[in-house]
Amino acid sequence: MRIGVDYYPEQWDKSLWEKDAEIMARTGVKLIRIGEFAWSRIEPREGEYDLDWLDEVIGIFSRYTIGTVMCTPTSCPPLWLYEKHPEIIQVGADGQPIRTGIRAHRCINSPIFRDYAKKVTERLIRHFSGNPAIVAWQIDNELEAYPCTCSVCREKFRNWLIEKHDSIEGINKAFGSSVWSGEYSDISQIQPPNDYPKAWQNPALCLEWYRFTSECTADFVRDAMLTIRLEDTRVPITTNTWFCENTPDFYKLYELLDFVSYDNYPPVRIPDDPEDFYSHAFHLDLMRGIKGKGFWGMEQLSGSTGSWAPMSPAPKSGMIMGYAMQAMVRGAETVMHFRWRTALTGAEMHWHGILDHSNVPNRRFLEFSELCRRVSQLGILDSTRIVSEAAIIYSPEADAAFKIQPQVDGFCYLQQLKAFHSALTRFGANVDIVAPNTDLSQYKLVIAPSLYVNNKTVTENIYRFVINGGTLVLTARSGVKDENNNCIMDTLPTVFKELIGAEITEYDPIGRGEQVIRDFAGNEFRCRQWCDILRLSTARAYAEYNDGEYRCMPAVTMNRYCSGVAYYVGTICGSDFYESFISNLMMQTGIPKLKGLPRGVEVTTRTNGRDEYVCFFNNSEKPVVIPLPKPMYSMISVIGKDRLELRPFEMDIVRK
Ligand code: GLA
Ligand code: ZN
Repeated sequence: MRIGVDYYPEQWDKSLWEKDAEIMARTGVKLIRIGEFAWSRIEPREGEYDLDWLDEVIGIFSRYTIGTVMCTPTSCPPLWLYEKHPEIIQVGADGQPIRTGIRAHRCINSPIFRDYAKKVTERLIRHFSGNPAIVAWQIDNELEAYPCTCSVCREKFRNWLIEKHDSIEGINKAFGSSVWSGEYSDISQIQPPNDYPKAWQNPALCLEWYRFTSECTADFVRDAMLTIRLEDTRVPITTNTWFCENTPDFYKLYELLDFVSYDNYPPVRIPDDPEDFYSHAFHLDLMRGIKGKGFWGMEQLSGSTGSWAPMSPAPKSGMIMGYAMQAMVRGAETVMHFRWRTALTGAEMHWHGILDHSNVPNRRFLEFSELCRRVSQLGILDSTRIVSEAAIIYSPEADAAFKIQPQVDGFCYLQQLKAFHSALTRFGANVDIVAPNTDLSQYKLVIAPSLYVNNKTVTENIYRFVINGGTLVLTARSGVKDENNNCIMDTLPTVFKELIGAEITEYDPIGRGEQVIRDFAGNEFRCRQWCDILRLSTARAYAEYNDGEYRCMPAVTMNRYCSGVAYYVGTICGSDFYESFISNLMMQTGIPKLKGLPRGVEVTTRTNGRDEYVCFFNNSEKPVVIPLPKPMYSMISVIGKDRLELRPFEMDIVRK
C-alpha cells in the first residue's frame, strides 16, 4: 500500500519541482501522476513535440525515489487541433457542437481525433518505454459514455444497429417503432436520442444508445491500450473512473486493462440520512468487484471541494487519513491524493489539494504526513485480501435502463443496492459487488436487486446459484424487460417466476405513499414506492402487507428451489426492514454477524490465508468504543487491546 499525489508540473514554476519532490519524499509520497491535461505542452504545434520538460520532472522525482504514473493527454486536445479540425468537437444531444474552452470536448469516435491521439500517445510511449521511473500508464481522464451526436457518431451508431439487428426491419422490430409512426424506412432516419426528456423517447433506442456509447468508450480505451502495449510490455495500464450521468459499463471498460482506478471523493458532509452512511464503502466495494481484485484510488479527497459547485466544508480532522485508509482496506492498493497543491489559476482553483495556495504546510498536510507514515507501517496488509460470503449484483444495463425510465417517485436503482449493502455492513460482513455474469459459486448469499433487463446468460447464472444451494434475494422490478428494453407479455417476474415460486398478479407504484408490512415474526415495517401483489405457488410468505387494500397479501416471499432458497422482496422499505431481513438471512446461511456495532462503524476483514486482520473504521463524527471479544493486537498502536476507542474517522486494525 502506498500514497501518491496528482501533480501538474505544467502549472508551476520550474523552480518548485525540485522543492516539491524533496518535501514529498520527506513526507513519504511514493508516486506522482502527471500529464493528463498537458497536450498543449507536449505538442505545442502540430508535429512539434516537447518532452524535455517531462524528462526533467520525471528525472527529478525519480532521484527522490518517487515514481511516475504517466497519462496520455488525450482528454484535452490543444486549441490548434480544434481550430484545424473543428469536426473533432463533440456535438451535444441538441445537435450543437460543444463550445471549447473547458475540457474533454473531443469526439472519441472521430477518426481524425483518434489519429492525433494515437500519434501523441505513440510519441510518449516510445520516449518513455523502458524508463524505470514510470510505474503505470493512465489512459485519458474520467472517460464517460459520451453521448456525442456528431455525423461520425450518428453514422457509427446506425452501422452498429444494422450489424446487431441485421436490417432496418430488424431495428424496427427491436424498437417497436410502429408506436407514434416511428418506423424507419431508411437507415438515415435513425437518430440518437435528442435533448428532450428521456421520458418522451423510445426506451429501446435509448438503451441501445447507452450500449453503443459505452462500447465506443471501451473501444477507445482498447485502442489506446494496444498502442501502449506495442511499445511497452512492462508497465501496467489503467484509466480512472467515477460515477456520473454517463457512467460507462465498468466491466467492459476494464476488460482488457490491468487494473481499475477510481476517483474517490467521499462527501465531506456526513449524510443526515442513516441509509446513506455506508454509501461510500459501497462505491469502493463496487470498484474492487470490477476485476475482483485490488484497485487504485487515482484521485482522493484532500481539501474543500468546489469550483463547479459552491465550496464544500473542509475535510474534518481525521477525514484525510480516514478516507484514504478506508479506501485501502477495501481494496485500494495505492491512493493518489488530488492534488499536491491547490491551483492558483484556472477554473479549478477552489478544488483544494493537500497544500493550500499559500504553499505553507497546514493542518491537512500534517494529517497527510501522518497518513504516509502509517501506511508505510502496514506492509503486512499487502499480502492480504478480502474474502466475502455475500455479494450484491450490480447491473450496468439495469442502471442505464432505470436512468431512462425512473419508474416511480423516489425510486433509485443504486439506492436499492446500497440498502442491502448497508444492512450487511451494519453487521460487519465483507460484501462484494459483482457483475451479473460473475461466477457466484463462492458466495452463500447473493442479492440481485431489480434485474430489470433480461439476459439469458445472467438468468441462467442466477438459477445455477440457487440450484447449487445458494440463498438468493430478488426484488421488485425484476424480469420486467426483454433485451431490447421492451415489456414482455407474461406475468411478472417472467423468467424468475419459477425460481421465486410466485407471480405478481398486480403492482402498485405507490411512490411517496406509505404502507406497512408485517413479517412472520410480527415485526412491522413501513414500505413505499412500490407494492407487488404476489400469488404464491410453491413459495411461502415472509412478510405480508398489513394495511390498506393489500392487507394480508404477501409482500416478501421465500421459496425453496432445488438445493437453494430464493427470496423475493416486492416492495421497498427503510433500513429497519433490511437490517432485520439480512440479519435472518445471515443466520440461515451461517455468515457470521458482529452485533452492536455503533452506527457508522465499518468493519473489513482481510486475510492472507493464515492470519485475519480486522479493520474498524469510525465513519462518524462521534467517538466510539468497541469492545473486542478477546484481547487482540493492534497494528496501529502496536499493543494488545481488549477494546477499541476510535476518534471520528479513525481506523484501527487488529490481528484476530
Ligand atoms: C475529477 C477530475 C480531476 C479534477 C477533479 C476535481 O475527478 O479527474 O481532473 O477535475 O475531478 O474536480
Ligand atoms: Zn462524435
